[in-house]
Amino acid sequence: MVKVIVNDKIMDRSEAAIDIEDRGYQFGDGVYEVIRVYDGVLFTGDEHLERFYSSAEKIKINVPFQKEELFDLMNQLIQENKVKDGSVYMQLTRGASPRNHVFPGKDTTPVLTAYTKEVARPVESLENGVAAMVADDIRWLRCDIKSLNLLPNLLAKQAATEQGCYEAILHRDGLVTEGSSSNAYIVVDGKIKTHPATNLILNGITRQVLIRLCEQNNIPFFEEAFTLEDLRNADEIFVTSTTSEVMPVVKLDGKEIGNGKPGELTRKLQVLFVEEFESVKKAHSM
Ligand code: PDD
Repeated sequence: MVKVIVNDKIMDRSEAAIDIEDRGYQFGDGVYEVIRVYDGVLFTGDEHLERFYSSAEKIKINVPFQKEELFDLMNQLIQENKVKDGSVYMQLTRGASPRNHVFPGKDTTPVLTAYTKEVARPVESLENGVAAMVADDIRWLRCDIKSLNLLPNLLAKQAATEQGCYEAILHRDGLVTEGSSSNAYIVVDGKIKTHPATNLILNGITRQVLIRLCEQNNIPFFEEAFTLEDLRNADEIFVTSTTSEVMPVVKLDGKEIGNGKPGELTRKLQVLFVEEFESVKKAHSM
């Protein structure tokens, strides 16, 4: 039987129950993380947990666990479910209390839930690249918070899917922010650009890993906003996320980018990224 976490307990999924007035359910009043598991090992778990605490703090939820406890719980869940290549989804809501827009009192405790799943690396798409479309960024002004409120992201992703695209790349008044569930980048003349980590984007953990890898390998990287025109004329486009890794975008709004194949620099970043998680796996197995 597959196991899940509710608060500090690991239990069978069929035993898990959430109150109908949980604020996550009624208001999207909570935060979440998706963490990659490679060969049974959490990849960048520390960074994800840091962001989990930071998101919770920004919406004034106290995480009722120490970081080490959360780490142990997630690792136990991975072991119990024998996850090999997959992910952990974890979320924390403000808790259950009679519906009221005002925050409940201190006697309402936040509710933690988590589950795992097997997810294969999207090798075919990583190899050949994917199509994307451009869409208006209609989200709120605190996209730096990984909150449960994802309706605008869902609408954009659904529109992309209906157009046969993998991702919607969002813009505000012609300035590209990020993807509906990823960070977005262009390569122009050997230089990589992505939107700076402001309130308008989620500072992706994959994005942070990539910036470090570029620094270590002397690859020119600029946290600078770029326009839709820059995007359309880019030599290469790619998006990154926990599950997509470094995903080449080879078609935008039906038009080929470059020669319609993953770009050279994108390929190089893919290689560096694989080396990075392979080395984490190896360090863990020693
Ligand atoms: N999404 N921007 C948005 C809006 C996202 O939802 C995500 C990730 C990212 C990339 O962040 P990271 O590299 O930390 O995964 C950027 C996750 C995977 C999701 O909601 O499923």
